[in-house]
Amino acid sequence: GDPEPVQDFCVAAPHGSGELAFPGLPCKPSSSVVSDDFFFAAHARGASTDNAMGSGVTPGNVDAFPGLNTLGVSINRVDLAPGGVNPLHSHPRAAELVHVVGGDMLVGFVSTEGRFFSKVVREGESFVIPRGLMHFQYNVGKSAARAMTVFNSQLPGVVFAAQALFGAEPEIPDAVLAKSFQVDAEIIKLIKSKNRKG
Ligand code: GLV
Ligand code: MN
Repeated sequence: GDPEPVQDFCVAAPHGSGELAFPGLPCKPSSSVVSDDFFFAAHARGASTDNAMGSGVTPGNVDAFPGLNTLGVSINRVDLAPGGVNPLHSHPRAAELVHVVGGDMLVGFVSTEGRFFSKVVREGESFVIPRGLMHFQYNVGKSAARAMTVFNSQLPGVVFAAQALFGAEPEIPDAVLAKSFQVDAEIIKLIKSKNRKG
């Protein structure tokens, strides 16, 4: 998890209002901190799932919720249409607790030994993703599914597998990807065409 705080709170000052601090973000003056700094309403509604993945994630990290600064936790809302997937990704700085609040989703991750662990998780149930491991959520039900995902970091970071490898800027050479995946460069170009912007 993140470093231990050395004060009750350190509500992040608006971006650009202070020096860059490590760890975390600079605090706004304690005297100007109000109850609403500890309140976050964006998860009352979900993100649109009207996209190629059938999925929408609403982040609740320190960038969205400055009151989390130095507190070592954060929360996302994940909405999935039937058949929708929150595609394969990992969080370099946090374990993730997936708590399903509606519908049925297959949740899975792959360990460093290459073992795939997965479970169909239903309303009211939870599944945990160890820090840094590649994982996904896939709606296997007939109706919309929803989960709250909780992290032991204020800024877990996210690396989407397909985007990181096939959508990087500037691009990773086709030859490197073709060799790595043991396929023809044509296949690499096809996958790149689906992951590169513009
Ligand atoms: C789900 O995996 C999330 O990162 O919110
Ligand atoms: Mn995740």
